[in-house]
Formats: sequence, C-alpha cells, structure tokens
Amino acid sequence: MSFIIGLRNFVFKVLYRIFRPIIFLMDPEQAHYTLKKGGVFLGSNPITRAITSLLFDYNHRMLNIEVDGIKYRNPVGLSAGFDKDGELTKIYPSLGFGLAELGSFTGEVCPGNPGKRLFRMVKSKSIVVWYGLNNLGAEKISSRLANADFGRLKVGINAAKSNVTPEFVLEESIRDYIKTLTLFKDIGDYFTINISCPNTQDGEPFVDKANLDALLIAVNQKIRTISNKPIYIKLAADLSLAEIDVIIDGCIEHKMDGVVLTNLAKPDMNQEHIAAEYPSNLGVLPKGKGAMSGLPLQRISTNVIRHVYRRTRGSMTIIGVGGIFTAKDAYEKITSGASLLHMITTMIFDGPQNINEINRGLVQLLKEDGFTSLEQAVGSRNPLPILSQESVDLTESNDVNDSAEVA
Ligand SMILES: Cc1cc2nc3c(=O)[nH]c(=O)nc-3n(C[C@H](O)[C@H](O)[C@H](O)COP(=O)(O)O)c2cc1C
Repeated sequence: MSFIIGLRNFVFKVLYRIFRPIIFLMDPEQAHYTLKKGGVFLGSNPITRAITSLLFDYNHRMLNIEVDGIKYRNPVGLSAGFDKDGELTKIYPSLGFGLAELGSFTGEVCPGNPGKRLFRMVKSKSIVVWYGLNNLGAEKISSRLANADFGRLKVGINAAKSNVTPEFVLEESIRDYIKTLTLFKDIGDYFTINISCPNTQDGEPFVDKANLDALLIAVNQKIRTISNKPIYIKLAADLSLAEIDVIIDGCIEHKMDGVVLTNLAKPDMNQEHIAAEYPSNLGVLPKGKGAMSGLPLQRISTNVIRHVYRRTRGSMTIIGVGGIFTAKDAYEKITSGASLLHMITTMIFDGPQNINEINRGLVQLLKEDGFTSLEQAVGSRNPLPILSQESVDLTESNDVNDSAEVA
C-alpha cells in the first residue's frame, strides 16, 4: 500500500513540476489568491472532498499523537499566514493535514501593507513576505466560523495585534489580542499568540519582558477563565539567545502551554540569500522590509527548537516550523523536541502531495529508529544535560533551569 501511495505522490510531484513554471508566471500574491479559491471550491462539496482525499490523503496509526489533551491524527500542520481569513478548513483534512493554524487574525480589520507584498526566491526555496497581517478582522471571521465543524482536523487560532497604527500603546495592543481570543473562545482547539510578526509598523514590542508580562497576565485573567484551550506563543527567528530565554522564562512563569518556533527570518541577517537571488536587487525587494520563509529559515528554527527544548527540559509543547520540505527535515525538528509541525513554503515549491509524502516518510523514519509511536521520537536526538540535585529541585518547583546548555 505504501508503495502505491509513493507512486501516486511521485506522479503528482512530476505533474506539479510541469505546472509550477505556469503558476510562477503569476504574481505571487495573485497565485496565492487563485490557489485559495481552488481550495475553497474543492472543499465545497463531498464529491470534490472525496476525490481530493483519494489523491492526497494518508493515514497511519504511528502518526497519531496527543498533545496537551488534544488528539491529532498526524503532526503535519498548515502554518499561519496561508489561510488568513479562515476559508479553507473543509479541504485541509483531504490534503492530509492533521492540523491547520488559521490567521493571523487581528482585533480590527487589517488591510496589510501597501504595494507588492510577496516575492519568490526560487534558488533559496523561500518566500519574502511583506503582507503586514492583512485579514478581515476577528469579528467577521469568528462569526463566520462560529458553528463550523472541523471534523478530524485540529484547528489553531493565531491571534496577532492589529497593524493599523505606527505607535505602540501597551494597553491598546493587549486589548486587541484579548478581543480576538475572546471572540474565538469556542472555535478551534488551541490558541497561538503571535508576538513575532516581522512586518508591523510598531515592531515586536512583546520581546520586552515588562510588556510580555503584562500581556500574559491579561491572557491568564481574561482568557483562561473563559476557555481551557492550550495557549502557545509564537517567537521570532532572529532573537538572541538572551531574548529567547527571557520569553521562554516568561512563558513558564505565566504557565503558557507551549511555543511555536519560529516565525520568518529577517533578510538583514541573511543577506546571502537575497544576493544569490537578486545580484543587483534593483529595487526588486522592499529594502529593510519583509522576512523570509523556507530554506533560509530551516537551520535557524531547528537551532531555536533545540535550545528551547533543552532550556525547558521538554516541559513545554514545541510546534516546529521553518523550512520543512522533506520527511527528514520534519523528523529533525521532531527529534530536536517538536511534537507538532507547521509548514507553508513546501506547498508552494513542491506541491500539495508533499504533505502526505512527509507523513509517509515520517512513518518510515520512525520504524528505522525502532520507535512504535511519534511521541517516543520527540526530542530523542537532543539529549538533555544531566542535572545536579540542586537544579532538579528547581525544575520540580517549576522554575527555569539556568544551567541548560545551548545546543
Ligand atoms: C505568505 C506567508 C504569510 C505568513 N503570514 C503569517 C501570519 O499571518 N502569522 C504568522 O504567525 N506567521 C505567518 N507566516 C509565517 C509562517 O507561519 C511560518 O512561520 C514560516 O513561513 C515558516 O514556515 P515555512 O518555511 O514552512 O513557510 C507567513 C508565511 C508566509 C510564507
């Protein structure tokens, strides 16, 4: 059976390779819009859903995983940013996804940034994103999704703060997040709080400890009391280790359930990819703006996962994201400490069949390592440093272990 599915995926891979140049002739944002419309159509009736399942779905019991009380049929998820208005939930299960993170949704309607906002970097297998959180706003989207039945798909709700003014006002920003989280309290399975959008007018103010504390205190007071969904925090890719540790320690202190690692990588620190793609960059990319997905992010995000898994001693859920193109890439993030995965860029460069090909490959890799379940593989190639008795006491009292090493 696995052989037949492999053959099926190979045929679609070749077909996608043939059609990709045509898709890549389109403006990237137009292509995104067109593919989304196709997805809405495929999800709109049982017949197209059944055909899509036949062509793209894959199931295996070794991929089942329970994370924070939620049972996922597989760990492969769609990352935030593809479905910014939550329109495609009906088709994701047929495409093989175990989960999908919708959004980012913001408290206010957000038009996003002006001008050209997506750029392909084919050599680097990357997308430079300058969207700026365009979405229809939490009110409209939550009322549309209010009674939606997501079936076997597990759904994450990604909340970001509205990108409508250049000034940062702490109370207003917190109110904005709380508005979205409250409106979605009964929709989906978990929350992600996105404090790391690289494309907003007022930067990333929740890297600051005092601001983060204020946000997480408000979340605990206002959201934990009305919803028992797990809450995860999405971190940026380009933080220093000291900054990562401040946020992680804050997440532990305020009892967040986990983290999503990581958001996009800023070109400033990864100029070589831009230079390779656009040697004279004659205004092709917006200078100093936008951030990169895909391959340039792969190593960065895996290193962050390794560090956070060790610092938290595996006590927090990690969703791994950034440059996953193959089952091997996915497995590296799992064995580094991630229990679940998100991805977007592989669908653009490799095609939708790659979702189930990654799932199929994961089963193979689990078997090769002698595991009988996905849970056993989480963090298995990122051994934790041995603790002294003193640090064991600290960990048991739920404090952060200062002696964690950087992987
Ligand atoms: C077109 C696009 C839009 C994105 N928009 C968001 C967003 O609104 N919120 C968010 O948290 N991340 C957003 N991201 C980041 C992704 O969720 C993910 O962290 C990143 O793309 C790395 O995964 P990948 O390499 O598999 O694409 C976006 C990424 C892309 C490519």
